[in-house]
Amino acid sequence: MANDDLDHSRRKALTGGVVIVGGIGAAITAWPFVASMNPSASALAAGAPVEVDVSKMQPGQQIQEIWRRKPVWIIRRTPEMISTLGVLTPKLRDPNSKDSQQPAFARNEFRSIKEEYLVLIGICTHLGCSPEFRPEPGTISPTWPGGFYCACHGSRFDLAGRVYKNVPANKNLEVPPYYFPSSGRLLIGVTREEAAA
Ligand code: FES
Repeated sequence: MANDDLDHSRRKALTGGVVIVGGIGAAITAWPFVASMNPSASALAAGAPVEVDVSKMQPGQQIQEIWRRKPVWIIRRTPEMISTLGVLTPKLRDPNSKDSQQPAFARNEFRSIKEEYLVLIGICTHLGCSPEFRPEPGTISPTWPGGFYCACHGSRFDLAGRVYKNVPANKNLEVPPYYFPSSGRLLIGVTREEAAA
């Protein structure tokens, strides 16, 4: 056999070996990829609605839950807190929530189903930091009526999560879907209409 013929047949054998090994490799690497496309029970549970007992919340209290791996704040507003909302309109960028994200029931001054209970996603709409709940008047500035303050870049939100003018964030804090299945019980992650469908 001439040297050229020898090289040719060796090359063919080597190429065949590469194809077979490559095929096994593809099969091995494809398995975890396919498996990862099937959502696990824990992933499904992470998106499930979260039920919260709000019956024992004190006026002015904030509690935090996790829904879809996001912090969700529930605040029981006092009558004094609620009274600050109506006078702030000229200072707010989107007072009627036309450009912000929330269910239809929250497109109003209170951004809530019940005036008393505020439910918000606790993530700043600028670059995703977690704002602080600062309900005490006069703490952020002498005229501060209470609200949420994001220390990362200074964005301010009122006690309905509405963003002030002239701060880095340009959207109100997001309101998640929720409803009250009964007095004192809150279900985060679904509206009444969606639950009934
Ligand atoms: S992330 Fe909140 S002000 Fe920038």
